[in-house]
Amino acid sequence: MAVLVTGGAGYIGSHTVVELLNAGYETVVVDNLYNASRESLKRVEEITGKTVTFYEVDLLDRDALNRVFEKHSIESVIHFAGYKAVGESVQKPIEYYFNNVSGTLILCDVMRQHNVKSIVFSSSATVYGDPEVLPITEEMKTGGVTNPYGRTKFMIEQILQDIYVSDPQWKIILLRYFNPIGAHPSGMIGEDPNGIPNNLLPYVAQVAVGKLEKIHVFGNDYDTEDGTGVRDYIHVVDLAKGHVKALERIAEHERAKEGGVDIYNLGTGNGSSVMQIINAFEEACGKELPYEIDERRPGDIASCYADASKANRELHWKAEKTLSDMCRDTWNWQSHNPNGYGDA
Ligand code: WQD
Repeated sequence: MAVLVTGGAGYIGSHTVVELLNAGYETVVVDNLYNASRESLKRVEEITGKTVTFYEVDLLDRDALNRVFEKHSIESVIHFAGYKAVGESVQKPIEYYFNNVSGTLILCDVMRQHNVKSIVFSSSATVYGDPEVLPITEEMKTGGVTNPYGRTKFMIEQILQDIYVSDPQWKIILLRYFNPIGAHPSGMIGEDPNGIPNNLLPYVAQVAVGKLEKIHVFGNDYDTEDGTGVRDYIHVVDLAKGHVKALERIAEHERAKEGGVDIYNLGTGNGSSVMQIINAFEEACGKELPYEIDERRPGDIASCYADASKANRELHWKAEKTLSDMCRDTWNWQSHNPNGYGDA
């Protein structure tokens, strides 16, 4: 029996495949390589010494996806595949809804046809919108999202919950990520965004390695300790291990012969500001990093960090790596791969 990982060649997907293989799961990856490199999976095999079965498949290609389910005995799915750039989603809503939402509907329909009713969905803290209270718990209101990317995550959460209501045999786990950063300690896999990075850490890393001139701090007049935005940064390896724990939760449901929808925040519970990130990264790379204070980025919120106690209680999972681990591992990846997988 195998675990199907959609988007498994991507940043979080490839790190999760490493942990799945380390935990003994047979893993089948489908990815359209729109925002990923096949090289990442070759390196996953080098890191683990195990084989990854890979198909270059777009979820919108129902026949190709169906053939994967016919060829392999899939027991559960971890669903990462999706476009994920907030700013781009505002410019290209049709592409985002079509790719993220229709792709998920086709995946769920093919799963149903093959009687596969276990899915772990890669959701995001963005579904909480601008939180009124911190830290954020899973019971808090969702849906106040300000961009099409975040709305696709919210819609897919609703779709999956409606599927469970229609057929309570489904076992559904929604993992709401806070801000994933870092890289595998080997430095062989890491974040390799297309073009100029939208997110803070890959941008800082590219300044440190000399690919970009200076960091642009989007506003220092927020109601936070130093005026810059605060986020809950979580090491991608901690995040990946959370997915293995989610599969164990699904196995618990199977043993109890029950379905269910479980929702978990995957964060550290700690908030770090942009300036704290810059200082931590300077420590990691041993250089002073140039930056300038710019205007706020439209749509940004001041602070966001998790209450991750439910995942600790029910998944027996807790983020263990520190901010300096995250910066050290990011620097190790970036300094050894200044052009990401592009050099391979
Ligand atoms: C973090 C902080 C910025 C870039 C988004 C998505 C979320 C998830 C993670 C996909 C903020 C500041 C940033 C820069 C800066 N994506 N910043 N200069 O916006 O919290 O979350 O990415 O799953 O769903 O919403 O992450 O890294 O873009 O920003 O000052 O060049 O860094 O203002 O305070 P964000 P981010």
